[in-house]
Amino acid sequence: MSSVLFQRDIRLHRLNTFGLPARAAWFAAVDSLERLAALIATPEWRYLQRLVLGGGSNVILTGDFDGLVLHARIPGRALVGEDQEAWLVRAGAGEPWHEFVCWTLEQGWPGLENLALIPGTVGASPIQNIGAYGLELAQRFQGLEAVDLATGELRAFDRDACGFGYRDSVFKREAANRFLIASVTFRLPKRWTPVTGYAELARELEAAKIEKPTARQIADAVVAVRSRKLPDPAQIGNAGSFFKNPVVDAAAFAEFIARYPGAPHYPQPDGAVKLAAGWLIERCGWKGKWFGAVGVYDKQALVLVNRGGARGQDVLRLARSIQESVLDEFGVVLEPEPVVV
Ligand code: EPU
Repeated sequence: MSSVLFQRDIRLHRLNTFGLPARAAWFAAVDSLERLAALIATPEWRYLQRLVLGGGSNVILTGDFDGLVLHARIPGRALVGEDQEAWLVRAGAGEPWHEFVCWTLEQGWPGLENLALIPGTVGASPIQNIGAYGLELAQRFQGLEAVDLATGELRAFDRDACGFGYRDSVFKREAANRFLIASVTFRLPKRWTPVTGYAELARELEAAKIEKPTARQIADAVVAVRSRKLPDPAQIGNAGSFFKNPVVDAAAFAEFIARYPGAPHYPQPDGAVKLAAGWLIERCGWKGKWFGAVGVYDKQALVLVNRGGARGQDVLRLARSIQESVLDEFGVVLEPEPVVV
C-alpha cells in the first residue's frame, strides 16, 4: 500500500521556480483528500518530517529534505454560492493561480484581475497573502479548508482565522507546516469597481487610451507591466520579490526622507511608512550584478535570479550581503519574503 503512495529520492529542481537543486527523501502527490487520508493512515506518516509544496514559487530550498514532500495538486473550480453582493467561487489548492484568475474573468466574475500572472497555485495564495498593483488577496477572500496534518481533521478558516498581514498569514507563523490547504473560496464583487490607483498600472491604461477599463483590460495591463519588469520563472529562476518592503516608524521615516528626499514611500494607516526595498537595493549598487550563477535582476532589484546552476546557499549568501549593505547605508532591516527551507 505505502509503496504506491510514496515515492523515494525525488529531485525537486523542477518543483521550485528558483530552479534550486534539492532532493526529497520521500515524496507524495496529493491530488485528493482521500489520498491524503490514506497517507496519514500509513505507519511511515508518524515519523516523517513534512513539507508541503504548491507551485514552489515562494520557497528557497537550501539542501536536501530528509522527510516527506507533499505536492499539493487538488484540482477543481466552481461557483459555490452567491448573495446580493458577491459570487462565491472555490478552487482546489492545485489549480495554477493565473489560469484560475483568467477563468473567473471568462465567467464574468471580476475581482482578481490585479493579481493576474502571479506564479504559483491557488493553495499557496493565502499563505503569503499575495498582492500586486493595489490589491491583496485578503480583500477578495471568503475562506479556506485545510487538513490538519497532525490529526487528519479538515478545518475551515475564515478571514479572521487566517490572520492576514502584508505578505503574511498564520500559515507563515504559528500554523507553519501544520496544514495542507485543500481549497480556497473567494468573494468576487457583483458591484465591481476597478482598482487602478497604482501609478504604473494607471500609466499603462492611459497609454492604451482606456478610460473605463473592464476587468479583462486591467488584467491585460497588469500582465504587460509584470512582463516588462519581472522575470518569467520559465526563462530564468526566481521567486518574485526576495524581500518584503520594509515598514519604518514615523521618526525613522523623517530622518530617512530628509537624507533621501526623492525616495519612493507609502504612508500606512497607522502612521508608519513603507519604503521600496527595490529602490534601497538599487541605491546600494546591486542592480544587474552577477555573482556566478546568482544575480540581482537588471529590471527590478528586488528580484534575485538564478541563471542556471545556483544552489540555495549561493542565493542566501547574496541575500545576506544585500541585507548588510542596506542596513549599513539606510539603517533598515530587510526581511526575506520567500520561505527558506
Ligand atoms: N524601484 C527602484 N529600483 C528597482 C525596483 C523598484 O527604484 O530596482 C522603485 C520603483 O521605481 C518604485 C518602487 O521602487 O518607485 C516600487 O517598485 P515596484 O512598483 O516595482 O514594486 P515593488 O514595491 O518593488 C511590490 C511587490 C510585488 C508587486 C509590486 C506591484 C513586495 C515585496 N513586492 O514590489 O510583488 O508585484 O509591488 O504591486 O511587496 C512579490 O511579492 O513577489 C511581488 C512581485
